Amino acid sequence: MALVDMRDLLYHAYNNRYAVGAFEIASLDFLNSVIQAAEVCRSPVILNVIDQSERGSVSENLMAAIDTAARSSSIPVAVHYDHCINSERVEQGIRLGCNGVMLDASDKSFPENVEYTKKAVELAHSCGIPVEGSLGEVSCAPAQEDSNVQAEPKLTSVPEVEAYIKRTGIDFLAISIGTVHGRSNSKSKLDFGRLGKINAMAGIPLVIHGGTGLSESQYHKLIDNGVAKINYFTALDEVAMAAFRISSEDQTLTSSELMMKVRSSLSNEVSRCMQAWRSAGRAAEVMMQCSSWHNVEQVIVYNSENSDPQQIQQMIQNGKHELSRIPGVLNVKIGKSLSQNGKFQYCWIIRLASQSVLKTYKKDPHYLSYTNNFLKKQATDQIDDDYEMLNDFESTKTVAGHI
Ligand code: 13P
Repeated sequence: MALVDMRDLLYHAYNNRYAVGAFEIASLDFLNSVIQAAEVCRSPVILNVIDQSERGSVSENLMAAIDTAARSSSIPVAVHYDHCINSERVEQGIRLGCNGVMLDASDKSFPENVEYTKKAVELAHSCGIPVEGSLGEVSCAPAQEDSNVQAEPKLTSVPEVEAYIKRTGIDFLAISIGTVHGRSNSKSKLDFGRLGKINAMAGIPLVIHGGTGLSESQYHKLIDNGVAKINYFTALDEVAMAAFRISSEDQTLTSSELMMKVRSSLSNEVSRCMQAWRSAGRAAEVMMQCSSWHNVEQVIVYNSENSDPQQIQQMIQNGKHELSRIPGVLNVKIGKSLSQNGKFQYCWIIRLASQSVLKTYKKDPHYLSYTNNFLKKQATDQIDDDYEMLNDFESTKTVAGHI
């Protein structure tokens, strides 16, 4: 398993002057292509999941595939929830399994931005999850028919940088120095003077949104001035569309052959970025120096004398509902022993985002309600323990060490 702590990942990049690509995973094809490129380039990578709550949340099936791909890859991966507009979305991203989140209140006034971000940081940090804050607005490129209209970006205000970082407690800072989301000609005018000052003041990894369409020398200048994460999507979408159009002219191709061509074009573009951003070839040292990301499971086994199935069902539903509402709880599973003579007849397995969640979880009013209204009423005897879930490559080593 190569899901790693995003703080370690980005600090490694920041201290060693390269940038990790955060590629938006729009579909399974994007996921496979990005992972394949990272494996071939031996590069760390961030899988960006977009907060799409307005359009309907990210598909749980896609999220499950992202999680599996991240855990089974041989390169360091973090999964990041992009552009959350408030703490509720941050909570949702954590619940989906992301181990990094962005709070984007950059459209708000400075005091409001601080307030929103601070609240999100408190929540995410209680789950052990780092937060990218945003100061200065990265606007969207105008649609092609309006290409003469230049978006007026609200650039990062240098004097506010220190106060924003101190008051919010963010881990990484997304800045605005002239990039825009999407394809735009104005990207040639990046404000590197401003970037230098922000970097001198910030002292934490910087993030660039709107990574599409910059020149190689611009990327290098960004990286030399503290940028450790580059968000990238539009160019991938363009590459996929172009490959799709060209390949669909070939009537002899099957649909899967066509999609293979799309995936191969996507992989080539991702590889190009990894070379340009100098993250290629870094995987091994990052793996050595980064902490793996571990979920934790609380396992409760118990017996019950209650023989009313309807009552049991109702109490289970209530208990599950209570636990699922606690920040940092990823999922709740309930089981029954296959053996009638088994020592314990029932179990609950509650998956938490990380060990940090335990500090607040057992004091949470929903947890107390679960124990008071379910466990204390149902369980005649019980065992309750918390387990750090080992990663595939660690499990043989660690468990063998204990035997
Ligand atoms: P581009 O689409 O310009 O590459 O930007 C992507 C991005 O910043 C996502 O947050």
